[in-house]
Amino acid sequence: MDKFIWKEENSVGVKEIDEQHKHFFEIANSIIDLTAKENLTKEEVVKSLQELGDYAFYHLSTEENYFDKFKYQDAPLHINAHNEYRESVNEYFGKMNSPEADVKKLAEEMAGYSGNWLLAHIVVVDKQYTKFFNEHGLN
Ligand SMILES: [Fe+2]
Repeated sequence: MDKFIWKEENSVGVKEIDEQHKHFFEIANSIIDLTAKENLTKEEVVKSLQELGDYAFYHLSTEENYFDKFKYQDAPLHINAHNEYRESVNEYFGKMNSPEADVKKLAEEMAGYSGNWLLAHIVVVDKQYTKFFNEHGLN
C-alpha cells in the first residue's frame, strides 16, 4: 500500500493543525509498515490501531475546540464530517473484537481508510476554515 505524504499544498494555514495532520499520516504509515511484518500478533495490531484512533479523535477535538472558541458558523457541517469518521473507526474496533477477525486485513483497511479520509477531508472541508482561523489570530 502506498504511504501517505503530507505536501505543502495540504497546508490549512495553521501550524498546529498542519503538525497534527502530519502526525496522523505518520501513524497511518507506521501501521502500513507494521502490516508488512511476518508473525504479527493481534495485540501489536490492536495497540497500533488504538494509537491511530486515539490520535485521530484528539485531533478532531482540537479543531472542534477552536470552532467553539471562535464561534465558527460552519461548525455543524464540519462536525458531521468528523462524526462520520468517528463512526467508521468505532466500526473497525467492533469488527476487531470478533474472534474470527482478520486483524492484519482490518489494520490495512483502517490505515488506508484513515489516511485517504484525512487527505480528502483536508482538501474539501478543513481548508474552508483557513481564512476564518487566520482572522482570529490562529496561524
Ligand atoms: Fe476537520
